[in-house]
Amino acid sequence: MFNMHLHVTSWSLSIILFIATWLLLKQNKQQIANVLHNINRIVFLVILYTGGMLIYRYTQAPVWDNYGVEAIVKALAGVYLIFLMEWFVIRNKKGAASRGLMVQFVVVLVIVLVLGFGRLPWGFLP
Ligand code: HEM
Repeated sequence: MFNMHLHVTSWSLSIILFIATWLLLKQNKQQIANVLHNINRIVFLVILYTGGMLIYRYTQAPVWDNYGVEAIVKALAGVYLIFLMEWFVIRNKKGAASRGLMVQFVVVLVIVLVLGFGRLPWGFLP
């Protein structure tokens, strides 16, 4: 289950980088925030790749019959989370209002975690 480990590692890292970028922007440390933001963009690609592989393997596996719809909802919500992180950071860089994006981020993150860990059958835990 290398893909699943890489998936969980990459989105965990991404959320840490996202929060760190936000805190640095709040302290007006633009330059280091830029570096973390750009690293996170690379991590986004890893999340998309591993998530894409997982959803492809879902379509090929027997679980597809029972969990296909939930897996698609989870995957779409995952893609949306990436967009939300990107939009939020860009808005913060511009000093524009971003509270609504953060509210959406928290709500969608809870949905994704509940579906990923709570509902969907594949997991990285033994
Ligand atoms: C920040 C974005 C994302 C977060 C926080 C996230 C979170 C998770 C979590 C918590 C799991 C379950 C891990 C486990 O049970 O051990 C998971 C699995 C999965 N993710 Fe993501 N994910 C994200 C992005 C994506 C994307 C972009 C896709 C698809 C394009 C995707 C597709 C999947 C699939 C198909 C699974 C397997 C479901 C299962 O557990 O049976 N994820 N993800």
